Amino acid sequence: MRLRDATMADIPTLRHWDTQPHVVASGAGGWGWEEMISTPAPWRALLIAEVDGEPRGFMQIIDPALEEAHYWGDCGPNLRAIDIWIGERAETGRGLGTKMMRAAFRRCFADLAVRSILIDPQATNTEAHRFYRRLGFEFVRQQTFGTDPCFVFELTRANWRQGD
Ligand SMILES: CC(C)(COP(=O)(O)OP(=O)(O)OC[C@H]1O[C@@H](n2cnc3c(N)ncnc32)[C@H](O)[C@@H]1OP(=O)(O)O)[C@@H](O)C(=O)NCCC(=O)NCCS
Repeated sequence: MRLRDATMADIPTLRHWDTQPHVVASGAGGWGWEEMISTPAPWRALLIAEVDGEPRGFMQIIDPALEEAHYWGDCGPNLRAIDIWIGERAETGRGLGTKMMRAAFRRCFADLAVRSILIDPQATNTEAHRFYRRLGFEFVRQQTFGTDPCFVFELTRANWRQGD
């Protein structure tokens, strides 16, 4: 698995993934890809996970304090927040998401100021909750983002298993 920056050439793939039922059901996807990819921002990484050179998943990493829409509200500095999905249902449950998240942890915590990583799965997405807990995330609070009731989970630097 290799993470690389998303490019305009990925937009058809990202749009296809946006239509996949498991992605839609999780509340992920459906973003304004052209605008996001064509306007890089220092507080955001838009990443494609490739396996054997083929795109398989997407991940966004943001600094929630600097993100322009203030999606996370007034959350303070030195945090990161991640969105993740695997494009095709058949590719899930094979360990790819785990590899992507661990690569993201290394990337986020390489900045020694970063104290923890936030995730906001929908309150009903129990599969994702289990996935995040297994990676060391802990439940923090319920929070409604837009109209979506979500659970906020946090992985602190102390709970990050660096060997993973
Ligand atoms: C959530 C998501 C990113 C997880 O990625 P994934 O690749 O499916 O995750 P993994 O395969 O690493 O782990 C998931 C399960 O597969 C199992 N697994 C891990 N490695 C495995 C392997 N090599 N072979 C078989 N199963 C494996 C894990 O034990 C885990 O099972 P559990 O949840 O019952 O404990 C992915 O399922 C997804 O895209 N879901 C839809 C979108 C979504 O919900 N995104 C999150 C929104 S917050």
